[in-house]
Amino acid sequence: MRVFSGVQPTGNIHIGNYLGALRQFVALQDEGECIYCIVDLHAITLPKDPSELRSHILDVAALYMAIGLDPKRSILFVQSDVPGHAELSWILTCCAYTGELSRMTQFKDKSRGNESAPAGLFLYPVLMAADILLYDADVVPVGQDQKQHIELTRDLAVRVNNRFGDDTLVVPDGRFLKEGARVMALDDPTSKMSKSAESEMSRISLLDDDAKIKKAIMRATTDSDGEIRYDIERKPGISNLLSIYGAFSGRSVDDVAAQYQGQGYGSLKKDLVEVTVDALRPIKERFCEIRPSGELVDALRDGAERANAIAARVLARVQGKFGLGV
Ligand code: TYM
Repeated sequence: MRVFSGVQPTGNIHIGNYLGALRQFVALQDEGECIYCIVDLHAITLPKDPSELRSHILDVAALYMAIGLDPKRSILFVQSDVPGHAELSWILTCCAYTGELSRMTQFKDKSRGNESAPAGLFLYPVLMAADILLYDADVVPVGQDQKQHIELTRDLAVRVNNRFGDDTLVVPDGRFLKEGARVMALDDPTSKMSKSAESEMSRISLLDDDAKIKKAIMRATTDSDGEIRYDIERKPGISNLLSIYGAFSGRSVDDVAAQYQGQGYGSLKKDLVEVTVDALRPIKERFCEIRPSGELVDALRDGAERANAIAARVLARVQGKFGLGV
């Protein structure tokens, strides 16, 4: 089984990214051949300061290792170091329909009908499909927000295969967790926790200090009926806290809710602070050791070489099917 996934180097990597996607990356190292990318080409679909981008690329690489990804077992690399991503992306762009791309919710949210939205935003999901298909990936661990992009990837793969034969592209499956696939913003549990939300209180970043973690959780928006119960529709705030608690402690939300039956929101929040602080402590400690060390860049260079060897084979196969080159 081959696994592929990626994270954008945009800073503020948060517990939503971790609980929805990153912790799956680690677990899957025991199940298959894993390839994890830092998708810098995706990051420039919106303007980025170059030195910040460079620094965020290294932050994500250090976080990958800090959460337990082993650069010897898994391939860890930066997207732009493997030219095949952009090349396959063009081929797939020629197979994608403008109609299906216009229906992508992320594009609609980010462009908001703005005529001067970068065309890269429109083609973002095609590049993502290229990332996955370039490695013949079987499984793609991601959060719920990427579901539509995975569907498009599958549609493109099937479309290409219908034209050129089933041995052209591997049709991948998304892998979504039961708890944590959609972590909501702490200050507004009706929208997803995001790296770019203005309020720091909306998220807990993996590198936040303990005081910030405490403040964000204790201030998290809840409701006023005082009952601890998992009910996304009526009690989105408490349900989000239960789901974060469950995901960090490996327990079901019902089990956690049962434990706090009859208690106030305060005790649930207080214990969630402890669970979160304990879960993030070792990650932060390892991050601080790894980030300044030279091993980071060496690991990424080695990863790019190994990724490129696989990518070049798949790209040559696809180019051959399309009749490209001499
Ligand atoms: P990105 O960088 O926004 O997020 C990285 C991963 O975190 C998940 N995630 C969440 N999960 C649960 N709750 C949340 N609030 C939450 N926010 C984010 C995302 O689903 C993702 O798995 N398009 C991708 C990057 C990408 C990619 C790929 C992923 C590019 N090419 C190929 C997989 C395969 C993205 O923007 O992720």
